[in-house]
Parts: sequence; structure tokens; C-alpha cells
Amino acid sequence: MQKKLVVLSGAGMSAESGIKTFRDADGLWEGHDVMEVASPEGWKKNKQLVLQFYNDRRRQLLTCLPNEAHMLLTDLEDYYDVTIITQNVDDLHERAGSTNVLHLHGELLKVRSEQNEEFVYPWTKDLLDNDINEQGHTLRPHIVWFGEMVPELENAIPLVEEADIIIIVGTSMQVYPAASLISYAKPTAQAYYIDLNPAPIKQTPCDIKVIAMKASSGIQSIIEELKTNS
Ligand code: APR
Repeated sequence: MQKKLVVLSGAGMSAESGIKTFRDADGLWEGHDVMEVASPEGWKKNKQLVLQFYNDRRRQLLTCLPNEAHMLLTDLEDYYDVTIITQNVDDLHERAGSTNVLHLHGELLKVRSEQNEEFVYPWTKDLLDNDINEQGHTLRPHIVWFGEMVPELENAIPLVEEADIIIIVGTSMQVYPAASLISYAKPTAQAYYIDLNPAPIKQTPCDIKVIAMKASSGIQSIIEELKTNS
């Protein structure tokens, strides 16, 4: 049986693909206050602004490509049972070829019914105010906004609990519950934290090696060791 490797990725993973991170921009996200465009309150207050914001992000995503860091993780599937747990709403892990990707914070290329969150649809064009589903439900971006439940968390926790190797990459570890996932690691797990500007991580149950590098170089620096130890 292959060892289990879990990747916990954040915005820094996609930075080399040209997608801006959140906190590197002083709380402004592509020029917007995060709470205006990524909260249920913001949606109630100014739906047009929120729609425009995600339409812009979606259009931008369609012009971006997976980077070397995404590709390197895909290669690891020959050596490990790999699952990617990402905070990113882009589809770059999937486009690179990763087969097990869990999106904690939703997906930019999906929308869902406002009346029933079970109705989720693939979406690549702009989402407009008057777009509805076949039941006549209004639609919203399939994004987990601040203050909302993180439904995928219950699927993510057991994956971290069972992981032999954990690679945390490109996250400021500031947003919960995503940042708390590492606390579920088993004591014998080997963890790596790759980030250009790593945040202090306290109280990890397992060993964690901090690598202050950009995602592609950081993953490259451990890839041979990972392959050898698989
Ligand atoms: N390679 C590696 N790390 C990088 C790179 C890079 N090329 N560029 C930036 N970073 C690091 C930064 O040092 C920072 O620690 O990526 C991290 C990005 O942090 P955030 O912008 O806070 O992104 P993230 O941790 O993914 O944010 C979590 O916040 O706004 C919400 O829901 C949104 O999923 C997001 C969540």
C-alpha cells in the first residue's frame, strides 16, 4: 500500500500562475475590502459588486495556467496516495492533473442555488443578476464566504489524521478552520511548510520542516527526498 500524502495549499500555490494572494495586498483583494466581496453581508449589500468581482476573477482564471509547483505535486501521485486539500478556488491543481482535490473554500468555476446549496453547477461565463436554475432559484458563486460553514471540513479532517506526509504550501495560516487542520496530524507524520514568508506555526503534533521559498522551488527542494522515502 502506498503511503498517504496530503497537501494543504493556499493562495501562494497559485501566485506563480499570476493569481494574487489575499494578505500580501494589505487586506485589499484586487482593490476591494475582503468583507465587501467575500461575505454574506457584502452580498446582501451590493450584489452587483460581488457578481462583478467573481466574474473578473473567473475571467482572469481562464487566462492562467498551472505552474511548476502544481505539476510537481501531480508527479508525486506515482509514489504516494496523494490528496490535495486546497483553500484556493481556482482549478489549477485539477488542470495540472491532480486527481484528488478537495476545495475547502469552494470553486470559482461553479455556481449554486441560493435556495438549496445542493444544486451546484459548472460555470465558465459571467454570472448575471437574473441567472436562475431550472427551478427558478437565483444563483450565487459557489464560494465559502467569511462567516459561512465549511462543509468540506469534515471530509478534510480524516485525511489529515491518516496522512504520513503533509505538505503545507503558500498559506498565511490565518484563516480558520483551514489553519487548524494541521493540529489533526498524527505524531509520526512528517510535515513541511513551504512559503515565501512563513507564518509562525505553534503546537503542531508532528515534526514540521519550514522551507522559506516560493512554491515551485520549495517543492523541488524536497521532491527527491519524498520520492526516495515513498
Ligand atoms: N510561493 C509560496 N508562497 C507564497 C508565494 C509563492 N510564490 N507568494 C506568496 N506566498 C505566501 C505568502 O507569504 C502568504 O503566506 O502565500 C501566503 C498567502 O497567504 P494568504 O493571501 O493569506 O492566502 P491563504 O492563506 O490561502 O488565505 C486563506 O483567506 O481570503 C481568504 O478564503 C480566502 O482561501 C483564502 C483564505
